[in-house]
Amino acid sequence: MKSFQIRLMAITLGMFLVFSFSHHASAQTAGWTIAPKFKTMKNPVASGKESISDGKELFAKHCKSCHGSTGLGDGPKAATLDVSCGDFSSKKFQSTADGEIFFQMTEGKGKMPSFKKLIPEDNSRWAIVNYLRTLAAK
Ligand code: HEC
Repeated sequence: MKSFQIRLMAITLGMFLVFSFSHHASAQTAGWTIAPKFKTMKNPVASGKESISDGKELFAKHCKSCHGSTGLGDGPKAATLDVSCGDFSSKKFQSTADGEIFFQMTEGKGKMPSFKKLIPEDNSRWAIVNYLRTLAAK
């Protein structure tokens, strides 16, 4: 009987450990996992009038509904989401590298859609990065 109780305790403890470990692991994956190469990737589309206006047009069509017209994360769809869309005017966001932002819109995460197929031209997504830079708080 005693060894049975010990085994039961061991199983309970094991289950507890597995649960707390998996819980911890999923909390870690809540952030973006971005390969280091995106931090140093150069934006091949020079920022200028043309690319900013291209990016603005694409943003209005694909992003504004959630991210809001000035990127504050206050678009009409944002209210229906249980996660924050972030704030593109913030210092924290603006300190993200071009390549990381490119990765985020290409791959998506959770409620944030992947735009790999919706905006298939890489250079169009780079143009959006250029537009997002204009949303920095002045
Ligand atoms: C359906 C709503 C929705 C649409 C449409 C959308 N996003 Fe998002 N976006 C989100 C959400 C929600 C997050 C936060 C995701 C998370 O952290 O789980 C996010 C996060 C991001 C981030 C990371 C922000 C940060 O603070 O790190 C970037 C960059 C981004 N979106 C760019 C875009 C661009 C560019 C478009 C259009 C091409 C777009 N998003 C369209 C909902 C949306």
